Amino acid sequence: MVLHTTTLITGISQLLTLRGRGPRRGKALANIGLVKNGALLVRDGFIVAVGPRRQVETHPFSRVAQQLDVGGRVVLPGFVDSHTHLIHAAGRAEDYELRIQGASYEEIAKSGGGILNSVAKLRAATSDALKLRAISALEQFAAYGTTTIEAKSGYGLDLASELKILRLQKELAAKQPLSIVSTFLGGHVVPAELRRRSNGTKQYIAFLVDKLIPEIAAQKLADFCDVFCERGAFNLEQSRQILDGGKRHGMQPRMHAEQLSHTGGTQLGVSLGAASCDHLEKVNGADVRALAKSSTTATLLPGCDFHLGLKQYAPARKLIDAGAIVALATDFNPGTSPTMSMPMILSLACTQSRMTPAEAISAATINAAYSLRRDKQVGSLEVGKCADLGIFDVDDYREIPYYFGMNTCHTTIKSGRIIYSKSAFGTT
Ligand code: NIG
Ligand code: FE
Repeated sequence: MVLHTTTLITGISQLLTLRGRGPRRGKALANIGLVKNGALLVRDGFIVAVGPRRQVETHPFSRVAQQLDVGGRVVLPGFVDSHTHLIHAAGRAEDYELRIQGASYEEIAKSGGGILNSVAKLRAATSDALKLRAISALEQFAAYGTTTIEAKSGYGLDLASELKILRLQKELAAKQPLSIVSTFLGGHVVPAELRRRSNGTKQYIAFLVDKLIPEIAAQKLADFCDVFCERGAFNLEQSRQILDGGKRHGMQPRMHAEQLSHTGGTQLGVSLGAASCDHLEKVNGADVRALAKSSTTATLLPGCDFHLGLKQYAPARKLIDAGAIVALATDFNPGTSPTMSMPMILSLACTQSRMTPAEAISAATINAAYSLRRDKQVGSLEVGKCADLGIFDVDDYREIPYYFGMNTCHTTIKSGRIIYSKSAFGTT
């Protein structure tokens, strides 16, 4: 439902504006810009006034606005999910059961499960089938209060299949309401057909750097280039070659770093000016210091640790206290984090990594937006930004992570348009 061109949103018990300059570090991460009895004035999908209700009501547009009373609920910026593997053909419940029975992620990958299993299924799937699945996933993201996602390729690993994914992401970005930021993850693993060859990894990297990356850049299909720097995927030098290839074609690096083992990926990412290093369960003190001194975001993905049943979460407190820019994301993917729920990620970050609810909310909004270089448009509720909102059925914002495994999101608004709602509000 499209709101009236000019809408005054009232009845907000707690309005979390997240206002302020740039990404949040250290103590500032807890600064959520809370306004009690707040209001928002939205015009043509953008915020034209925001703050205490009495102040917003003095804006000249308020007089011509239609009023939307949200009934005393809590309002915050729509979540920015800065790490997802949106496009895949099927879940991998078989891997999940094998893990429960004692097999490790790497053992399952070696025995025909894992990423290569998803690659085989994606290659066999039609674009239409992938589109239907992605649209239903996007509806789920919206239902949990998310309005912007990053989406990675990486289950194709050949020219036609990687292009199939990235073209679909572009089509979906134009056709459905959520903002989608595309990342090329050809450097996910070496595909099966090249693994059998003695110099297969070298050949694959040459194919990525000389063929696929230039093609994707020419077609403007990705903003970022990512690599899985991990045992069984790409080592440090190989990761560098892929990310350098991306940089030469204008794609800023992102990294999967220090997830299952310590590889040095974080410091490589920082040295290459990566927008983000993600996972970070196995970081050491030097990695934490390097992140703290850099503008590379440290993106934590606690859904993976939860789903894989791992006991070691990334050291969120150390990263925050050292001054790193910390973000949170779902890592929605079929192998290690099958969830679209940012509220569940917030619950995990708070309970398992001792982030406060305020810190977790900043990490999932403004800092995540910064990591995608979208912080001028989204991630906080400030004049001139998109009217992207999550409206939650709670009395206090801390209840968003406090309730877990359930959905307290009542309504999601993207660019002034209601894209999800549990029930209608009264309009006057
Ligand atoms: O972020 N790093 C690899 N990518 C995913 C896992 C993908 C899979 O298992 O399918 C991750 O954890
Ligand atoms: Fe991932």
